[in-house]
Amino acid sequence: MTNIANDLVSAIGEVSLLVRFIIFSALIVISYFLSVLTLRPLQRSMQERKRFIANISHELRTPLSIMKAELEAALLQGDMITKRELLEISRSNLEEVDRSAQIIQFLLNFSELETRLASLQLSQVNLSRVARKALRLVEEDAHRQRIALAFEDVDGAVVRGNATALEELVLNLLKNAIRFNSAGGKIRVKIVRGEDGGIKMSVADTGVGIRAVDLPHIFEPFYAGSNVLKKRKESAGLGLAIVRAIARLHRARVSVDSVVGQGTSVGVRFPRYHGR
Ligand SMILES: Nc1ncnc2c1ncn2[C@@H]1O[C@H](COP(=O)(O)OP(=O)(O)OP(=O)(O)O)[C@@H](O)[C@H]1O
Ligand SMILES: [Mg+2]
Repeated sequence: MTNIANDLVSAIGEVSLLVRFIIFSALIVISYFLSVLTLRPLQRSMQERKRFIANISHELRTPLSIMKAELEAALLQGDMITKRELLEISRSNLEEVDRSAQIIQFLLNFSELETRLASLQLSQVNLSRVARKALRLVEEDAHRQRIALAFEDVDGAVVRGNATALEELVLNLLKNAIRFNSAGGKIRVKIVRGEDGGIKMSVADTGVGIRAVDLPHIFEPFYAGSNVLKKRKESAGLGLAIVRAIARLHRARVSVDSVVGQGTSVGVRFPRYHGR
């Protein structure tokens, strides 16, 4: 009888040791996953900051390199340089100085964007009304470039948001759809209701499309894709970064589908409006 009791006590001891070991291991695994979850957004934001600095440095280096090359070429010519050539170099250098000043201004404006967005009031906004207004604002530009605009919506396309910020979002998408399009092209803005009751807006164009190498970077501030090299001066590479910041404020998700030579569609999916 004593032996059975002893066996029982030692068996209970082993089971309790095993249970303690399992609980301890589970705690280690849980704390590992918790630390990964906490660090991930931090890592992402550090990554974004790095890309931001790389892009802005690249943008600022370009006008500086142009100025340096032109001044070196002028110095090489020494006394042989003509008055006309000097004037030309001064004019071009001044353009590049202006460009640098403009980039710094963009940088200042952009750095204040998050703060400005955070202070905005959110209320019930009719997305169709916002999109129609943005379409009216680009109508003339599109018409001049012989690009046709089409609009399609559902009744009661209501989201929780800020009308001014949303108009800025749609305008940036429309400006891209026009800039990266050509005469005879089309732009279609579509607002539909998703299965979850949320609203999805898409801006689709029949333009040049986005190359695969650019796709992972187009939302980074100051990233201009390889399809704009020739028109560098027109592009700050900020439009989609602004779109992303505004979408975040609205808890909306942005997606891009693009086929080179066929066109691009940018979708913005808003969560269901609960009437608060
Ligand atoms: N609809 C589009 N069609 C083709 N390429 C696009 C389109 N929208 C964006 N892109 C690509 O994504 C890049 C980033 O777009 P974004 O709007 O941020 O900058 P941008 O239009 O070059 O300059 P900005 O908007 O500051 O004037 C563009 O330079 C372009 O390469
Ligand atoms: Mg743009």
